[in-house]
This record gives sequence, structure tokens and C-alpha cells, in this order.
Amino acid sequence: MSESLVIIGAGQAAAQAIQSLRAEGFAGPITLIGDEAYAPYQRPPLSKAYLLGSFARERLFLKGDHYYSEAGCELLLNTSATAIDRAKKTVTLSDGRTLSYDKLLLATGTKVRKLRCPGAELPGVHYLRDIADVDGLQAVFQAGKRIAIVGGGYIGLEVAAVGAKRGLDVTVFEAMDRLMARAVSVPVSDFYAAEHEKFGVKLKLRTGVEAIEGSGKVEAVVAGGVRYPANIVLVGIGVLPNDALARAAGLACEDGIVVDQNARTGDPAIFAAGDCTRHIGREGTAIRLECVQNAIDQAKHAALAMVERPKTYSEVPWFWSDQYDLKLQIAGLARPSDHIVLRGDVASRKFAVFHLRDGAVAAVEAVNAAPEYLVGKKLIAQGTKIAPEKLADLSIPMKQMA
Ligand code: APR
Repeated sequence: MSESLVIIGAGQAAAQAIQSLRAEGFAGPITLIGDEAYAPYQRPPLSKAYLLGSFARERLFLKGDHYYSEAGCELLLNTSATAIDRAKKTVTLSDGRTLSYDKLLLATGTKVRKLRCPGAELPGVHYLRDIADVDGLQAVFQAGKRIAIVGGGYIGLEVAAVGAKRGLDVTVFEAMDRLMARAVSVPVSDFYAAEHEKFGVKLKLRTGVEAIEGSGKVEAVVAGGVRYPANIVLVGIGVLPNDALARAAGLACEDGIVVDQNARTGDPAIFAAGDCTRHIGREGTAIRLECVQNAIDQAKHAALAMVERPKTYSEVPWFWSDQYDLKLQIAGLARPSDHIVLRGDVASRKFAVFHLRDGAVAAVEAVNAAPEYLVGKKLIAQGTKIAPEKLADLSIPMKQMA
């Protein structure tokens, strides 16, 4: 008899796992449990084209309407898993039902980190993680409104760019001394700061928000001792892995569900993939990646492990962000000790920052520079050593670097 699979979490990793499992010949019944009202959809457009209004909702969905039934997958939406019994191999659902599994995939993703300051619960304070969040924000996201954005990371800055484009008065409050400090190098942070200011966004760096004020709804934020009037607050201060269910079931969790390079947890029947996991990355250290790449690749590896054809996960991570007409593409994971090489002219708004480690390309951040990103990603995968002068020489096309 075919084994049954239950997947908890209906996001990118889940959709990929279903596709890969069927492609690999997994024939058993699959049940997908998702607490949102929707079948798996792409999150990245939410803070970009979807918020702007130039991306139809139907296009968010990863699969067509009939895909799941045709793939022999039952969708249980608006439903959460509340407990896992590993001894009995069952999952308890919010509607009181219990499902049995032979194999279980945890693809629970992340949840937003909440702002904790006086007034943080006031109506008018928004977060951006799912469709419902954007629908709520969309209703008030109008020209002339003052929006205070807490956090100058990917979410905050993408919303800032859309807001500026749609005629809102935008101020970004960032606790660190530069934008996207977690994700990009200093030259890229500085470039983006200048671009945002050029488009009329006000930036308050080294400025945490101390309080949100208003009677019954947001009227102002207090930051660095100054009161800034605001109609809307958008908080984008990072995400936390949804690993409580796994932890309660006794699986190892350390800021993410611990998995090996085959997406296996310590329980041979349970696998995990995507933002909710922590794994040993290709550089040999434990890491929790928040990106589409990891959701897709780890789900593929989970599928391979489930059909007993495990393959070691060692893909190069990649990330992207769209702000204004700027496409930021990043491959690899940079370290502060890397040697930085600039290729191109920042003023031309088309350049790349390469990170060399022991002479080899370890990471690349490309702005409107697709060849640098694409070839850079290959160089990282191959561990190619390359002279900094050559990398910086625009007369040598990227394809000749490989
Ligand atoms: N006040 C101001 N800024 C803060 C505060 C605070 N109290 N706490 C954190 N920050 C800043 C951080 O310094 C960082 O620059 O918020 C920013 C959060 O940036 P990210 O870590 O990139 O998180 P976020 O923008 O919320 O994006 C979360 O969503 O786009 C996806 O997967 C992507 O990992 C990303 C996730």
C-alpha cells in the first residue's frame, strides 16, 4: 500500500514538495493543511507589484485551480495543525479532527516579529506577510496619507518605494546605522539610501520607534524623542520561524526546525523545508535562510529523501528585491571579512559588488546587472578564483569570467 503524506503549511515549499513528489513517483495520498484561506501563493510580489496594484491576485497562485485535485492532494484551508503525536503518527487539527500520516512534511514558514512598544496594538498599525495583510493595508494606502515605516529591511523599503510611487508621504525608521544591514554591503546600503531620498522618502537611521500615539487609531509615532504625525504605520522588523509545533513534538529546534542536508528532522518520518528550518549550509555552518530559493530547493530535497533517493543539498542561496526601477539580485552569503570588488559605476545605477574569500567569489550583489548576478552565481557554485582587477574590468564581459 502507498504511504500517506501530510504537509503542514501551504506555502512555496509545500507546493514544490507536492510537484517534486509526484514527479519522483510518490503515489500515496497527500493532505495539505494551511491556516490561510488560500492555496499556496507567491509572497514576494505582495510588497512589490501586488501592493502597487499592477499584479492581479490570480497571478499570485503557484498552481492552477485544478492542480491539487489532479495531483491527488486534498487541501484543508483555514485549518491549522495544533499538535503532532510522533508515537501515533497523527496530526491534530484546529477543527478537532485527527489525521494519520506515514510521512510528515513541516513547511510552516515564518511569522512577523511584532513591534513591542506603547501603542503597538492601535488600529492603523500594519504588518505585511500575507494576502490578508496587503488587503488591509491597501484599503488605507492612498496618496497624501502619511506612512511611518518601522524597519529599513526588504519589506520596509519595498513598501516605501511603492508608497512614494503612489504619492504617500513616507518616512522610514531604521534602528541600525544603514539600510538592509542584514542583507547587503555598505556600498549597496548607501546607494539605496540615496535612491530613496531622491524619490522623496525620508530616512531616519539609528532611530528606533519608542511609542505609537493616537486616540483610537494611529496619529503619530515617537522616535528618537521626536513626534512624527502619521496616519499609517507599517512594521517590517523581521520574521521568526514557526517552529513551536515541532518543538512541542520534541523535535530539535534552534531558531528554526533543525534538519540535515536531506531536509530530515531527527524523526525518520518527519521532514521540514523552507523558512522554518535551520540547516548546515554549503559553507559548513548552521543557517536559517528566508528565501524562495531555499523553500524550493529544500522541498525538492525533502521529496528526494522521502522516496529514498537522497541528494545532498548544497545550492547557492539567492535573493532579490525590487525597489523603484532597481532590481537587486544577490547570490551567496557575504561575510564582513570578505574582500569587496566593485564592478561598474554606482552613479549609473547599474553595478555589482563582488565578495571575494580566499580569492574565490563567495557572494555577489547586483543592481540592474543581470549578467553579473547570473555569472556570479555560477562562479560561487564552482568556487572559481578570480583576480579582483579582472572582475572590476568592464571591458571583459561577464561570460568570459567563468
Ligand atoms: N525599529 C526600527 N528598525 C528595526 C527594529 C526596530 N525596533 N527592529 C528591527 N529593525 C530593522 C532591522 O535593523 C532591519 O534592518 O528592521 C529591518 C528588518 O529587515 P529584514 O530582516 O530584512 O526583515 P523584513 O524587512 O521584515 O523582511 C522579512 O520578508 O522579504 C521577506 O524573506 C524576506 O527575510 C525577509 C522577510
